[in-house]
Parts: sequence; C-alpha cells; structure tokens
Amino acid sequence: MITTRYFSTDDLAAAADLLRTGQLVAFPTETVYGLGANALDTSAVEKIFAAKGRPSDNPLIVHIASRNDLDRLVGTVSEDAKKLMDQFWPGPLTLVLAKNPIVPDSVTAGLDTVAVRIPAHSIALELIRLSGVPVAAPSANRSGRPSATTWQAVAEDLEGRIAGIVRGQPTQLGIESTVVDASTARVTLLRHGGISLETLREIIPDIQTLHPRPTEDPHSDHELSRSPGLRHRHYQPKAKIVLVSNIADIPWSDQENAFFIGLHQPKNAPKQLSIHLCDSIEKYAHDLFDYFRQADQNQAQTVYCERVSEYGLGAALMDRLTRASQP
Ligand code: TXA
Ligand code: MG
Repeated sequence: MITTRYFSTDDLAAAADLLRTGQLVAFPTETVYGLGANALDTSAVEKIFAAKGRPSDNPLIVHIASRNDLDRLVGTVSEDAKKLMDQFWPGPLTLVLAKNPIVPDSVTAGLDTVAVRIPAHSIALELIRLSGVPVAAPSANRSGRPSATTWQAVAEDLEGRIAGIVRGQPTQLGIESTVVDASTARVTLLRHGGISLETLREIIPDIQTLHPRPTEDPHSDHELSRSPGLRHRHYQPKAKIVLVSNIADIPWSDQENAFFIGLHQPKNAPKQLSIHLCDSIEKYAHDLFDYFRQADQNQAQTVYCERVSEYGLGAALMDRLTRASQP
C-alpha cells in the first residue's frame, strides 16, 4: 500500500512533479479518467499494469499536449492521419501510428505502433504540459471493471495503489476515445468511441472497420492482434448485465434486486426496480459506467440495459454494453 495524495485542479504542479519522477497520477479527461505515467520511463509504465492488474499484452495510449510533442514519438505520418488530427485534435480520437524507438515496449506491448491522442480537457493538458513528458494513460479503473468517470470512482478502485488523484469534475463524455489505426495504407477503426464512424467518414470516406458488427460474432485472431484490447474482459460490474431489446418483455421478478438503465420507461416493472431513464444516447453513454458502480454499491443482482441502434455514439455504447454483458 502507498499513500494516495489528492490534488485540486488549481494545484497541479505537485501532481506534475509526481508524474515526472516516475509515479502514477490519475487525472480527468473529456472521455474518462486516465491513470498517467511518464511514457518514456519503463519502470513508471510498469507500475500502471501492476496498479490496474492489467494484462501486459494490452498497449497504452500516450497523451500529449500539442502536435509539437508528436514528432519524437512517431515515424512517418500519412496524409490521412494528418487530416484526422487537423479535424479532431484535441478530442476523443486516438491515432495508432508507426512508433519511434524512444517509445518503450512496455507502452506498446511490443507492437511497432503507438497510440496517441491530445485530450480536449484543460486540466489534462495543463498537467501534461507541467510534467514536461508524454503521459501514458489507460482508463483509471482496476482491469475489467467499468471505466472511472469521477474521481470518487478512481479512488474506489485505486486508493492505496497510486501516488495521486486529481479531483476534477465528472467527465463530459463518459465513454472512451475512438481508436483508429492510421499506420497502414487503409485507415481502420479499432474501437468505437466518442467520435462516431459516420463523423470519421466525412473526413476519410473509405475508412474500414475491423469488424463489421462489433456486437455480434467472435473476433478473429487477426483482429485480436491488431486491437489487443478486444482480448480481455472489460467494463464489468459485479452485477449481471442483461441487454434487452423490447422492454415490455423483461421477465421481472419481485425477488430480484434489479436495476434498469435505458431510454424508455419499462412496462409492468416491479415497484422496487431502480430505474434510470436517459433522454438521449449521449446521456446514456455519459451515465452508464457510473450507474454500473451505483448498482454494485447497492448490491444489485442484475442490471437490465436497453439496447440502442448502432448508429453514431450508439455504436460505442452497444460495444461497451455487449462487452459488459459477456460472461
Ligand atoms: O478515452 C480514452 O481513450 C481513455 C482516456 C484516459 O484517454 N483511455 C483509454 O485507455 O480508454 P485504455 O487503455 O482503457 O484503452 C486503450 C485502447 C485499448 O483497446 C488498446 O488495445 C488500444 O487502445 N491500443 C493502444 N495502443 C495500441 C496500438 N499500438 N495498436 C492497437 N491498439 C492499441
Ligand atoms: Mg480501459
């Protein structure tokens, strides 16, 4: 156990010192909270895997504060990659690019590419700038658990395991960045996230997806090697997650301590059912991980989640829901 220090957002210098000297600091971004380490320091990066209990074959995203910081991390940057940066940085788009030798294998899980993004969040940017180093950061949750969208959720999972937590606001999007591989001739979407496939298509009309329907069919070995994050359990609370299409058909039981999240009021629900209605897909995505954690705090047995159409942010939401519901 180590003592976790808490930092307010107007006091980032000490948190940045911890990062620079090889310690772990969790901080807010516009997507979810990240668990940061100096990306150029192998032993700091290894602490991330230990604190999270993360499998070492799952590479990390490197966060930078400006395009100027990119050059030393990556090799050739394609025209398509430049277009994507021009359009979506800072923002919830992670680009996989050819890596330079300076990036340690511990960050990239031995791949010859590195994932990079500039977060659209003033606190994150200031922390990175003050630290003076690129910051490797996965989502700040124990591996397999729902991502942390509040500093309290970070503390729940990582108190005593990391050096610092920046106490920012709850995150704006609540779902992770979109991961796009721009290291090959044909741009490929690897993980749905805050920027939709339809929006990416406006810039890269021939972008392909790794898997046509992420919520069906198992992934092939080839897909798993291009997007290692798909190999592992993700986003799962202790409660059982059940996806429902037609909310009128849910087999409600009076015995069960059940929770429900979705867009429509469930019919014939038992009185004790905890219901969380969202007025948009954006709100549903924003609230999902926090709702999973609330369900666990209330010893829920089951969380029923309404399916949504896989369009726009709905694709990312369905990806997280599907993976949360896998046994
Ligand atoms: O919004 C986000 O992306 C948040 C915030 C903190 O930035 N971070 C995040 O990190 O979600 P993490 O570690 O939970 O997810 C990173 C994803 C994983 O699916 C990983 O496999 C993929 O990015 N990834 C990282 N480097 C890669 C690479 N070189 N090639 C392919 N996929 C990569
Ligand atoms: Mg994660």
